[in-house]
This record gives sequence, structure tokens and C-alpha cells, in this order.
Amino acid sequence: MDQIIIRGGRPLEGEIQISGAKNAALPLMAASLLSAEPLILTNLPDLADITSMRHVLESLGTNIQCNGEQGPDSTCTMQSATITETMAPYDLVRKMRASVLVLGPLLAREGHARVSLPGGCAIGTRPVDLHLKAMAQLGAKINLEDGYIEATAPDGGLTGGQIVFPFVTVGGTENALMAATLASGETTISNAAREPEITDLANCLVAMGAKIDGIGSDTLKITGVSSLHGARYAVVPDRIETGSYAVAAAITGGCLKLKGTRLDLIGSVSDILRECGVDIEEDTQQNCLTVSRTNGPIRGVDIITEPYPGFPTDMQAQLMALMATATGASMITESIFENRFMHVPELCRMGANINVHGSSAIVRGVDRLSPAPVMATDLRASVSLVLAALSTQGESVISRVYHLDRGYEHLPEKLAACGAQITRVRNS
Ligand code: EPZ
Repeated sequence: MDQIIIRGGRPLEGEIQISGAKNAALPLMAASLLSAEPLILTNLPDLADITSMRHVLESLGTNIQCNGEQGPDSTCTMQSATITETMAPYDLVRKMRASVLVLGPLLAREGHARVSLPGGCAIGTRPVDLHLKAMAQLGAKINLEDGYIEATAPDGGLTGGQIVFPFVTVGGTENALMAATLASGETTISNAAREPEITDLANCLVAMGAKIDGIGSDTLKITGVSSLHGARYAVVPDRIETGSYAVAAAITGGCLKLKGTRLDLIGSVSDILRECGVDIEEDTQQNCLTVSRTNGPIRGVDIITEPYPGFPTDMQAQLMALMATATGASMITESIFENRFMHVPELCRMGANINVHGSSAIVRGVDRLSPAPVMATDLRASVSLVLAALSTQGESVISRVYHLDRGYEHLPEKLAACGAQITRVRNS
């Protein structure tokens, strides 16, 4: 398995182009199932998860042609003129849980779906019960058998309904929203997730002819239509990648210009980083953020992860790496997932002083972390270890870096261009 070798201790200086958001691109790709006409997506990131979703869609009959460009110039045309298969098999779904997002579109378009239960992952059991309840609220009959979700719409198709999520679910909101666009009548989704990726999906569906009110709020009202047409749509910048590289500037005491992103996407993250002592300036003309830590130490702050607009769980591991080198203590509480502290023992191997009590971690900052061989355990934990290694004087080796490939486009190249001594070595 590949490893990443980092010789840290240098402030990062330079520019990084932020890619399109993985967590927006995945539902947007699934939305291509809703129309027989082409959906053209631009700014699609080149990531393992995107490739996995492409394989799922192609197995269902979607034709996908990409121009091979990267970043804003990338264009992928996805056309589901005819859906030839309504089953998403275990061997594809288990590789990437977000494959379950084909459930709503298949039910809405074809009236039937057989989708493997995604199963858990490193950070938690991650059930999809709320997705299934939402489909049932739209009239679908749901059976679970042999590890598969067997879903069937009424003969006349899905019918609008009242969906009330007991707690916020990003994927559940996305499946419900996509299914409701073709359900006859009115659907209301209450306690809907408000993440920017949901807004991006809703805006794309509207561009395809869907009727959606309340976009950006926790109550979405959808009036079903008989069909959706094609559209051209640009994937929103990745707010988690933005936050991750902002931490890279802070933890190395450098200055990074993050291009192709927006401050409003990282509202709660920027608030916390500024509270820590990080400078963040936005240039709306140039569509970029400049992040630096030039004066004084990083101060410890307390955070609790929450649904948007709260502090995102996907930034928890990255902030912990920063807090590990801060002046003072911080308490980090993970309220979304039940097992999202696997980066803690690895950070402790690098000299961090962190104690976990239930869903909270007490972090006592140390002057400097030490280089060490460490192991990535999940996507955001892996980038947390990269950030920690960048702050140390010496060489760290990070193994199982395939986790990084899922969510960070060209990370070693982007960091090396800003002065990081980082290389990826291919091991057998
Ligand atoms: C999305 O996952 C993101 N993934 C995750 O990002 C992110 O951490 C998460 O939202 C929270 O923001 C994608 O968008 C592809 P949820 P999702 O449904 O939709 C429980 C990353 O690092 N739940 O909002 O699966 C669930 O177990 C990834 O990029 C149920 O109990 O998250 C969790 O505790 C990691 N039943 C909580 O709700 C359900 O039916 C939030 O999950 C659904 C969810």
C-alpha cells in the first residue's frame, strides 16, 4: 500500500486551487438518473469516490463522457437515456456508501430499486433507516432481504408526502429531495439538512426543471413534475478541503491563498479559526481566501460538531491536529458519529496530549509534535495526520493513504507547490 513521507517544520507559502466538493458531486451525479436528457457537470473533482459513483451509474445504464480536464475546466456529461438496471450491487455499494443515493432517483424514475445496504464504516454504523422511512412516506413499499433494500413505488409512481426527519441526515435529505421531484403532488421535508451540498443539489434540480421552495432552509417544499430535462451545472467548491488547507497554513505558521472558494462556505470553521488566532481574508473579486498565522501562537478553543451551520464533523480531526499544537487546552466533542476519534491514538504517537472521555476529547497543546510512522484510518483522520506531520521537525511516514484518495484531489502536489517536503511512495 502507498505511503506518504513528510519532512515538516517549514511554513507553507503559496497558492492552492480548491476542487469541487466531493459531497456535492456524489448526489449531483446520482441526480443524472432523474432525467433521460444529459446532465453536464463541471468542476467535478478527480477522486476515488467519484470514480466509484461513476461505476455504479454506468452499471445502471448511464452513459458518462468526460473531457479529461481538471478543476473548473473539467466537464462530464451524464445521460441516463434508458435505465437498463435498477440494482446497485453489494460489491459496488460497499466500496462507497454514498452509492445509496441512487435509491431515490431510481424509485422516482423507474418505480423500482434494489440497492445493497451500505453497511457501516470506520466512523460508525451509519444506518439508512431514515432514508427508507422517507421513501415510504412517498408511497414506496420497502423490504429488506439478503442485505438488500427492495423498494417499489405504487403503480402510478411515488406520491408527495410529509417527511419529518427526527434528526438531521444529509444523505437522507438528498434521497428524499431527489425522489420528491418526480413524485405526484406536494412534498414537505421538515428538519432537512442545510449543508451547502444540499443547496447545490437543490439548485441543480431546479436547473433541471424541478419545483423546490425553501432552498437553504430546514423546510423544503417540492411540487412534483412529470419529468426533468438536462442541465449544465458547476459543482460547488469543497468547503472541507478549504478548511483542511486553512489549517495547513495555521499549523505551519505560513500563508496560503486558497483559490476558487468562498468564505460563506466555511462560516463556522472560519469563526473558530479566527478565535484560535488565524487570519482569514476574503477577496470576492478574485474568488479566493488568504489564510495566515503570522502573529502569535494558536490558542486552544472548544468545539462541538453539529449539522450545518454548526462546526462540521468533517473538520473535527483537522482541528484536533491544530489544537494539539495550540497554547492551552481545548475540548472537542463529536456529536454526529459514534467512532470518529481514531486519529487520536495516531496523534498521540506524535506526542499529542489528548484524552478521550466518551464523545469528548480533551486536548492539551504541546510546543511541538514529533515526527513518527503513523497509520491513516479514515478519510479525515488521514488528512489530520498530514497536517500534524507538516508541523513537526523531521520525517513522518503515513501509511494506508488510499483513504486520502477518496476526498483530496492531488494533495501531495498541492502542498509541495507551497513548499511542503512531501512525497508519495508506491509500495507493493
Ligand atoms: C454525509 O454523510 C457526508 N458524506 C459525510 O462526509 C458527513 O460526515 C455527514 O454527511 C455529516 O455531515 C457525503 O455527503 C457523501 P448523515 P451521511 O446521514 O449522509 C445517522 C466525509 O468525510 N443516520 O448526515 O451518511 C448517521 O449514522 C464524509 O466526507 C441514521 O441514524 O451522514 C450519523 O450518525 C464522512 N440513520 C448521523 O445520522 C439514517 O438513516 C448523520 O448522518 C441516516 C443517518
